[in-house]
Amino acid sequence: MGIMRTKSIEQSIRDTEEPEHRLRKALGPLDLLVFGIGVIIGTGIFVLTGVAAATYSGPAISLSFVLSGITCALAALCYAEFASAVPVAGSAYTFSYASVGEFLAWIIGWDLILEFTVGASAVSVGWSGYFGQILQSFFGITLPERITSEAPSILQGTMNLPAAVIALILMVILVIGIRLSSTFNFIVTSVKLAVVVFFIGFGIFFINAANWSPFIPPAQPVEGGGSALEAPLLQTIFGIQQQSFGFGGILTAAAVVFFAYIGFDTVATAAEETRNPQRDLPIGILGSLAVCTILYILVSQIMTGILPYDRLNDPAPMALVFSEIGQGWAAGLVSVGAIMGLTSVVMILMLGQSRVAFAMSRDNLLPRYFARAHPRFRTPYRITILTGLVVAFVAAFTPIGDLAELVNIGTLFAFILVAAGVMILRRTRPDLPRSFRTPLVPLVPILAILACLALMMSLPGITWVRFLVWMALGIIVYFAYSVRASRLARGEDSAREV
Ligand code: ALA
Repeated sequence: MGIMRTKSIEQSIRDTEEPEHRLRKALGPLDLLVFGIGVIIGTGIFVLTGVAAATYSGPAISLSFVLSGITCALAALCYAEFASAVPVAGSAYTFSYASVGEFLAWIIGWDLILEFTVGASAVSVGWSGYFGQILQSFFGITLPERITSEAPSILQGTMNLPAAVIALILMVILVIGIRLSSTFNFIVTSVKLAVVVFFIGFGIFFINAANWSPFIPPAQPVEGGGSALEAPLLQTIFGIQQQSFGFGGILTAAAVVFFAYIGFDTVATAAEETRNPQRDLPIGILGSLAVCTILYILVSQIMTGILPYDRLNDPAPMALVFSEIGQGWAAGLVSVGAIMGLTSVVMILMLGQSRVAFAMSRDNLLPRYFARAHPRFRTPYRITILTGLVVAFVAAFTPIGDLAELVNIGTLFAFILVAAGVMILRRTRPDLPRSFRTPLVPLVPILAILACLALMMSLPGITWVRFLVWMALGIIVYFAYSVRASRLARGEDSAREV
């Protein structure tokens, strides 16, 4: 039965050594750190912080960032061991194929589509919010509500047009093959970092400490009571009426702003391009996570110090706080940095999707059709076009909160499988060289799994329903198609004729 099929780790590494699949080893620890920070800082901090503070946690949003950061750190310790033991491209998908078998690898790959494709949609929507802010503050233009709706609906004929357009433009750029060169990425990431540091350094002078009290607003039932679908699963299980604020609110906000940390795992996708992956990947993964956690805590603390938290529910809250205190130029500066940064995040997420899908097609779990490179541009154009169209459509018609929550639940689930994979690999392949070893196994992986579960349970019932439907669909596709088409099923040793 296909479920137990495992591709050996040695085979995975051999695959990458075939000349046509070999990538140039040029990256060092600093490149990885910049790459990590470049993917991590995005919609989470620039957009979701405001909504989460206004509706769930109040000024205690910084505690939510701490909780979410701890969860990611536990998962990152597991990722770092995986990446140093199985240094091949393709992220968690390739790791699990090599360690826990084809079925779970498929589940992770299917799940990663949520992280990358739906994640790119969510960041496109965030991009659109700052685009509107720039048009307004620099040119005095306000786009009509019908084409910039924050809660777009096909039925009511409203959509988020700028979000769809940016996704399509980036799709074309990716097909043509203009890669984000290291230099370009370095510049964009520096601008983004500079804007975040500017926000902290300038904003600190406008803090009104009264805005921080109460730091944890008392828990209050949401208006209308909230149905089981809207309530966090944890509250439904324990029969608690849906509440905002209080400790439950901090946890819910942590599950939402988890989005801000997504991306550190993509550092692992650069394994094959790294000169000394065993040493440098853990530095890149853990280092970028540490830098971002500190910045997020400071930004969220300052944001809620400048404006009362209930006024932060805005698509561009980091710009909003400055324009509300009469510092329009600072708001403009933040918006320009944000929009540059968000553009690169959408692009990298779409690129990540094409790499994972390429790896899955290379193994025949997805049709070979998608793994074909463009005759002229030499890019995986078919999968890129499909991804771009889906990202644009989803971004045009879905509110950002729903998208981010779906991405989070999918990514948290992938983290759980990676943490479990580390424990399994220690038993099945104790001989494998690991330059980075997760400390205190099995304690750290078990804590990682529990922390991820706690955040997953803090997401609303409807997010669970969407997630389970998506995973059920994946299982159907696997048994209807992939299980038979798979290279392992055909007894092929390695894919050569892409
Ligand atoms: N962490 C990335 C963001 O916040 C995905 O946009």
